Amino acid sequence: MLEKGKIIRHNQVGTDLYEIELAAGAIVREAQPGQFIHLRVGDAYDPLLRRPLSIYDVDAEKGTMEILYRVVGKGTKLLTQLTAGEELDLMGPLGAGFSIAEGINKVCLIGGGVGIAPLVFLARRLRSKNVELCFLQGTRTRAQIVAEQRLQAWSVDHYIATQDGSCGYHGMVTDLLTDENIMQGVQFIYTCGPEPMMKAVQAWACQHHIQGELSLEEYMACGIGACLGCARKLHSQDEFYVKICKDGPVFGLHEVELYEGRTGS
Ligand SMILES: Cc1cc2nc3c(=O)[nH]c(=O)nc-3n(C[C@H](O)[C@H](O)[C@H](O)COP(=O)(O)OP(=O)(O)OC[C@H]3O[C@@H](n4cnc5c(N)ncnc54)[C@H](O)[C@@H]3O)c2cc1C
Ligand code: FES
Repeated sequence: MLEKGKIIRHNQVGTDLYEIELAAGAIVREAQPGQFIHLRVGDAYDPLLRRPLSIYDVDAEKGTMEILYRVVGKGTKLLTQLTAGEELDLMGPLGAGFSIAEGINKVCLIGGGVGIAPLVFLARRLRSKNVELCFLQGTRTRAQIVAEQRLQAWSVDHYIATQDGSCGYHGMVTDLLTDENIMQGVQFIYTCGPEPMMKAVQAWACQHHIQGELSLEEYMACGIGACLGCARKLHSQDEFYVKICKDGPVFGLHEVELYEGRTGS
């Protein structure tokens, strides 16, 4: 669906990281964790294409949603100029989100960089079902850590890893998987972030016979399955392509061949 989302709040929350809170009641009513919105970053023809951004959090009572974005190019740079009171042209909620497995008591969420975005909404949903969570967040440095307060408010066990050692564990977030105190009792894993990170998560989960889900990123044009702009083979030997915007972005953790060279998030 299309909706004009009025900006309620727009602020910088880290190095190149911004949060926007939007009034978008119709989208919020339908939104599921892992889904995304496709938004026009301005009224001009350039950039023409919408940009996909995950639904970071929602407040169902207020009819508001939040997005968390990192400035990487023209579209996201233009976004930074918008202020409270202005409207954004939104399409959504789009894509297949995370499934909430029944009978699971403890899960692990692993986010790298801005890949944390869809996992925060998922954490809210899982905590509302009393699922125990350990949330592993990996960033390059302290100034990129977000969502600490809300995760604390939901009583989520939040573990941070920074590559420069400025906060939490010094190293890669996937190193935390080997910590038995954290991973004890984990029955399911959700992950989103750079592909090399998700590949390491996938390998660990495979070794420990744990199922899970991941969220993929691809360049998108239409966002609704009509243009093949986001087509990708889940395995290089597959005959058929999937559309990340419609068949995903969420897929089974062991369903996808991941690549070391893809960075994303
Ligand atoms: C389903 C989905 C959900 C996403 N959720 C978020 C989110 O919550 N927060 C967020 O910050 N970003 C998210 N992204 C990525 C975001 O869409 C891109 O960063 C954004 O479209 C870049 O637009 P731009 O005009 O600023 O950059 P462009 O000028 O279009 O590109 C600049 C550079 O950014 C990188 N880039 C652009 N698009 C992508 C992409 N889809 N995947 C990987 N790298 C890309 C490339 O290196 C490119 O060279 C998501 C992408 C997808 C597909
Ligand atoms: S972006 Fe057009 S089919 Fe996915």
